Amino acid sequence: MTNSLIIKKKINFFKKTITVSGDKSISIRWVLFASLSSGVSKAQNLLKSEDVMAAINAIRKLGIKVVITKNICKIYGKGINGYRYKKNIIIDAKNSGTLGRLILGFLINSNKKIKLIGDKSLSKRDFTRVTVPLSKFGVKFKLNNNKNLPLIIEGSKDLKPIKYFEKKGSAQCKSSIIFAGMRTNGTTIIKAKKSRNHTELLCKYLKLPVTIKKTNTFDEIKVRKVKKINSLNYKIPSDISSGAFFIVLTVLSTNSELTIKNVNINPSRIGIIHILKKMGVKISFKNKKNYKGEKIADINIKSSKNLKPINCPVKFNSGAIDEFLLIFLVAAKARGVSSFKNLSELNQKESPRLKWGSKILDKIGIKNISTKDSIKIYGNPRIQNINKKIVIKNYLKDHRVFMTSVVAALSFGGIWKIYDKDSIKTSFPNFLKIINKLKK
Ligand code: S3P
Repeated sequence: MTNSLIIKKKINFFKKTITVSGDKSISIRWVLFASLSSGVSKAQNLLKSEDVMAAINAIRKLGIKVVITKNICKIYGKGINGYRYKKNIIIDAKNSGTLGRLILGFLINSNKKIKLIGDKSLSKRDFTRVTVPLSKFGVKFKLNNNKNLPLIIEGSKDLKPIKYFEKKGSAQCKSSIIFAGMRTNGTTIIKAKKSRNHTELLCKYLKLPVTIKKTNTFDEIKVRKVKKINSLNYKIPSDISSGAFFIVLTVLSTNSELTIKNVNINPSRIGIIHILKKMGVKISFKNKKNYKGEKIADINIKSSKNLKPINCPVKFNSGAIDEFLLIFLVAAKARGVSSFKNLSELNQKESPRLKWGSKILDKIGIKNISTKDSIKIYGNPRIQNINKKIVIKNYLKDHRVFMTSVVAALSFGGIWKIYDKDSIKTSFPNFLKIINKLKK
């Protein structure tokens, strides 16, 4: 079967209600928390993607039983010290930075060396952002090139609490340190630049000894030793980062309207909503509710005729970090010049996404000027039916580059050949099925 997708036609107007798959960040965190809980945890709507399956396979390697049926995933936790460390365990995080980084926090007291590997993309990403703070606890690492996977972690029983200032705004880094802090006698203190807070919300719901003091830009998180994690049944809400492809497709199409049901609208994840509203997009939340500390709503979006450019406030960066490729497409159609700054983290993702953003804009003929951490986009409200052949081939197989290209093809026209269709399996396996539903 061919692994590329050809798109020759823009999408027609649509009025639909859809559901996108379960939140990836919460799915992976649920798997990890459940793996150390006492008893059986059940999840509904767990994202069944390669990243989450990699998390499930990781805990299976550590001796935890997992049963997956069509609608339910059950994890049989054996308590906070329930991992079985055999010799020569290799954990494959595949494409998942979240799994690769978070799980290290869980492994710091292992009594055997464990090897962590990943795919080509993950093996290019920097792991010192977690191994540096985790080393301070007293655990040892051996990294490829001193910064990459494969790495070997050698846990310790003699762990000391740490004080750490997390300046990048990385939730992966923050979460990894929180997990590690649960293993020491004493209090670990993390000053963390704001980032998604699903780990903290789960800690709060599970009544773990984790406290948080918030300021405008930083959180001070204190973590003490955890003796027991109760089993946790969870109904995973839909992922706004997956919904974002359809939000932007609706914004850029003509006379369309879309409702996306039951989406996680955690305030630390809705940067894209704030940004699009500032650009003049009609977007609203309906049926808001709270679920175990997370906020959930149906999102309603209407096509937008007059898009305003934005000088994007950096305070929205962290909450939109996985959505910028899409936001750049909206800026491409705005009336004027948009600018985005302080985005060096984008080039640390599954592929260098700031560079990719600029490349996709070049391909659709939108002038842009980018540096290593910023981009200026010269929008053109009349952009439609670009009469060109466009090929997108991304050797790191970044799922978000593939899906963004599909949205661009369906919004701006032209004849597109987009490679690496399989990449959607990492985060959003039924992406193309939902696209086809909108076409009907
Ligand atoms: C994630 C955090 C973000 C995000 C990633 C998922 C998480 O990465 O880009 O897709 O679940 O913690 P950083 O923590 O590196 O910013």
